[in-house]
Amino acid sequence: MPKIPLSVIEEIKYRSDIEDVISRYLTLKRVGSNFTALCPFHSERTPSFTVFPSTQSFYCFGCGVGGDVISFIMRIENLDYISALRYLADRAGVTIPEGVGDDSGKTISRQRLLDMNRDAARFYRDALFDGKYGGDAGMAYLLQRGVPPPIIKRFGLGFAPDSFDAMSSHMHSLGYTDTELVSGCLRGVSRNSGRYFDMFRGRVMFPIIDTLNRVVAFGGRTIGNAEPKYLNSSDTAIFKKSRNLFALNFARRHCAEELILCEGYMDVIALHAAGFENAIATLGTALTPEQARLMKKYTKRVIINYDSDESGQRAANRAIEVLSEVGLEVRILRLSGAKDPDEYIKKFGADKFRLALSGSRTKFDYFMDKVTSRYDLDNADDKISAIKEITNYISEVRSEAEREIYIAMAAKAAGISETSIKNDVLFIINKKRKEKKKKELEMVHRAAAGYGDRINLDKIKELRAASCEEALLGMMMAFPEYIGKEPTGVGRISPDDFLTSFGRRVYEAIKQVYEESGGFDIGALPDKFTQDEISRLVKLILDRQNLRNDDEVFAEYAAALKREAQERRIAKEDPLEYVRRLREENKKSI
Ligand code: UTP
Ligand code: MN
Repeated sequence: MPKIPLSVIEEIKYRSDIEDVISRYLTLKRVGSNFTALCPFHSERTPSFTVFPSTQSFYCFGCGVGGDVISFIMRIENLDYISALRYLADRAGVTIPEGVGDDSGKTISRQRLLDMNRDAARFYRDALFDGKYGGDAGMAYLLQRGVPPPIIKRFGLGFAPDSFDAMSSHMHSLGYTDTELVSGCLRGVSRNSGRYFDMFRGRVMFPIIDTLNRVVAFGGRTIGNAEPKYLNSSDTAIFKKSRNLFALNFARRHCAEELILCEGYMDVIALHAAGFENAIATLGTALTPEQARLMKKYTKRVIINYDSDESGQRAANRAIEVLSEVGLEVRILRLSGAKDPDEYIKKFGADKFRLALSGSRTKFDYFMDKVTSRYDLDNADDKISAIKEITNYISEVRSEAEREIYIAMAAKAAGISETSIKNDVLFIINKKRKEKKKKELEMVHRAAAGYGDRINLDKIKELRAASCEEALLGMMMAFPEYIGKEPTGVGRISPDDFLTSFGRRVYEAIKQVYEESGGFDIGALPDKFTQDEISRLVKLILDRQNLRNDDEVFAEYAAALKREAQERRIAKEDPLEYVRRLREENKKSI
């Protein structure tokens, strides 16, 4: 079987946005952050085919077909795996390196990419400071926007000449080939003429520097009216947008207490210039769980300081969830009188910003603000609805102490006794618990009644283990660092811990991809699994989306699975001991 390096698959996927590709075949309708359509793989009248941009996957809730952009093409164009990859590569203008597909595939080394980015950053910087290639216009732009020269230097800002080959001529003279420049996303190839062109032109350049102080990518802002306003490097073998944060290389030394998370490069620059060296930003995309975990390595608290417009606030709501999920304390700073932090500081100064910062709201304050602004608490119906939302919110909080605090605050705000709010909260918690139990029971009954699982044939007889396996595998595929991680206090996961043969096979396959490439993408699997199995894997990933995913949960599932495996072992090797344990357990439960 030919082997395609994960980096190539990732590059093809990154340039093949699933919603773009699918929208050529189906009419997509936006629903929240996802899209739906009538499923092309079974006949239906109401759309249950759903595209999830955040995981770049699709799943049909009607027929259970799912996958990534590669599996979509395989199914709809009726192509095999390699042909589907080639099809997408052509469409996206990615050259699959020579030899790929015949086992001798060799892509550009990470070190070469790092060297290339460093040399490009130097070129851009020199253009900005020497004024060559029109760099003086870039410098004028930055100065006019109030960026102090020491900050321009510190951030390594630069200028990309407004030319199709000025940057690349210089890079050629240093020995880099066009193919190499393309894989570093510094050059592109025209699909029609096949001609190469410099990717960044006429832009002020912001190097993106990782926490090891290496330039891994660029963002470039037009100094004119070119579209897009900001152009960012696509993902490469050394850069993933979803795993990096702008200015974290500086902020990491100033954020033992807190980080300030902004939306834009210029916001971060303005904040650093004003002395807030703990400011960072995402790279033009919504905050990801990987970025949240990266922050958690350096800080305890994150203050979200997004733009004050509606889309900024919507993004803030989402960021609150993502950050809380990894256990970061979250605060929200909503500035008034300016559209973003950059403008705010220009208008009101650093001291005023510091003051605003100290008044940033907690997550619960922010929630209460939203609820109380939506309802008129003097009106009985409104008040009841508001209290419903509040008690619902509090019932989702895990810590009892935290719940107590919120109950007291809510009681005060709504003018109702703490006891009645507390009773409502407890009622909801109980109800949710019961519903969960009932669902679990239903599943057991269904399995017992013989509704087997077509994909995981052992699931019927290993229900508990199978559900632990599903959780673990889902987490690993969604957050690949868990593939290599030892669950705390549990001991390494091994294939023998998996009790269903499907689970074991999946684990072995993703582990192999991870060990060979240091990452994981479901796009690397179709030559090992059937399309139906891939659909199931996508479902496992999607199932983890709204659940807690952290080290603790990971360890809990691993421990539970190991317990099951251990029990099976004893049952097989020492049936008497097994019976003795069962009795013991039975006694305890009476
Ligand atoms: P904004 O449009 O809010 O820009 O985008 P800004 O930071 O205020 O920029 P200025 O002040 O006009 O220069 C916020 C961030 O979203 C990403 C960039 O990371 C930007 O900093 N973005 C924006 C893009 O990636 N592409 C775009 O076309 C626009
Ligand atoms: Mn701005």
